Amino acid sequence: MNTYLKKFIEEKFKKPGKALDLGAGDFFDVACLKQLDWKCEGVDVKTGVNLEKYFLSRKRPFDLVFSNYVIHKIQNKKQLIKTIFDNLKEDGWFFIHTFDKKDKNSRSNLTASDLRKILSKQGFKNIKTRMFSYYDNEEGHKHWHKILEATGKK
Ligand SMILES: C[S@@+](CC[C@H](N)C(=O)[O-])C[C@H]1O[C@@H](n2cnc3c(N)ncnc32)[C@H](O)[C@@H]1O
Repeated sequence: MNTYLKKFIEEKFKKPGKALDLGAGDFFDVACLKQLDWKCEGVDVKTGVNLEKYFLSRKRPFDLVFSNYVIHKIQNKKQLIKTIFDNLKEDGWFFIHTFDKKDKNSRSNLTASDLRKILSKQGFKNIKTRMFSYYDNEEGHKHWHKILEATGKK
């Protein structure tokens, strides 16, 4: 499981709740959250949900909405942020991981300041962003990334 997401959940939530993973990939984080007794829905373009378009889950509202390594691929970033906002409960938390513009191993054009601007315009509170270096040790990768993390509250 994304260890930073796991740490975030341990910090913010006293007990398991309901989460939504936007761009869930192989649904590994969804499976890990279920192991931790969370109710978790995952969606992806591979399972019929295109996040270029507005998406409202029938299972909303969620305590946590997260989206990892997806937003830099999405043209309509404002739309994805609105999707996160509208699927959350009041006071629910979001967690985003993406690649920073400075990352030479991805084609992201996002900066922390761009992301903060969209998030605060949408009405999120307690917005925090940070950038850190991460070595991707997977076979065929083996390179550094500049990861951009954003968290906040509805
Ligand atoms: C790098 S993977 C990340 C998967 C997972 N979130 C993780 O952290 O391991 C990016 C995922 O975004 C999905 N994706 C890309 N464009 C999308 C779109 N327009 N709508 C929904 N999912 C999309 C891809 O299918 C892929 O599963």
